[in-house]
Amino acid sequence: MSNKQPHNPVLLAKVLEALVPLKGKKIIDGTFGAGGYSLGFLQAGARVIAIDRDPNSIKFANQLSEEWGEEFRFVLGQFSHLDELVNEQVDAIVLDIGVSSMQLDEGKRGFSFLKDGPLDMRMSGEGKAAADLVNNLSQKQLSDILFAYGEEKRAKRIANAIILARNESPIKTTLQLANLIEKTVGKTGKIHPATKSFQALRIAVNSEFDELVTGLFAAENLLKEGAILVVVSFHSLEDRIVKRFFASGSGSVSGSRHSPQIEQEAAVWQEIAKPIKADRDEIENNPRSRSATLRFAIRSASKARTPSMVGLGVPLSKGKNYA
Ligand SMILES: C[S@@+](CC[C@H](N)C(=O)[O-])C[C@H]1O[C@@H](n2cnc3c(N)ncnc32)[C@H](O)[C@@H]1O
Repeated sequence: MSNKQPHNPVLLAKVLEALVPLKGKKIIDGTFGAGGYSLGFLQAGARVIAIDRDPNSIKFANQLSEEWGEEFRFVLGQFSHLDELVNEQVDAIVLDIGVSSMQLDEGKRGFSFLKDGPLDMRMSGEGKAAADLVNNLSQKQLSDILFAYGEEKRAKRIANAIILARNESPIKTTLQLANLIEKTVGKTGKIHPATKSFQALRIAVNSEFDELVTGLFAAENLLKEGAILVVVSFHSLEDRIVKRFFASGSGSVSGSRHSPQIEQEAAVWQEIAKPIKADRDEIENNPRSRSATLRFAIRSASKARTPSMVGLGVPLSKGKNYA
């Protein structure tokens, strides 16, 4: 691969540290992107099976295949199905969730409120695009999404403005939406006023929380005793899910003095590491790393749990999937 990376991998050194020793390990990189993590694993002597739902990743995967032959394999698909996509035992699964720089930087993908393009935001290029949601959901549905997935306090005002604007003509482009939001709520603070709404729509379009929860349980199902699950997340809503997933599988008793009868379940996850953040040097070199949190834990021999969203703090998880 060339030295110029289309996506600067976040927390890679710390991910490698969590996985040491890598030599001879078989690792699933569930979010291949431009292959920065996969390359790091290969260079450290591991074999890699990579997954990504974005067909644009294929060209980067082909470069790695050429260079690394049978040490590397790529599968186009969603990590929520990783236990079906990969039919063999592995030593580690790594998820670096969210969007890649390539997806954000290319205006025509529709992820960025700074670049003009169709209001798309689909990582896989399939299913409903952001424009479908923005132009068809009710005011309440839009407001719920913006509030729950973007923690946007001005969700109702923005949703109202969207309804009024689309009654005139459909909202088709990123800048149309970004400008509408800016006009509605004004510019306050450092971040662009459309940041949270764009995050919320992206999460809805790609069913990111469903993917994350299903992916975590798929990893639990596939991994055997002693194997490691590593997750890097980029905002507090994601990190809360990962934290609670590990905690709820740790076998610790969660009852209170009001419900003292809770039976202790066998731990599925052990040696749960404290959250790890990027250090000052990395943040200086790669500002995207500022919001990243790394968590990992080791799989025990206990039976995998039945997947469930309960108790994981998944926003809008009560049957309101609008995408
Ligand atoms: C932050 S980037 C990963 C970057 C990668 N670690 C690298 O070094 O280049 C996230 C990637 O995960 C992919 N992705 C996000 N959700 C996914 C899912 N549910 N299934 C498969 N791939 C997913 C995105 O398409 C994107 O390429």
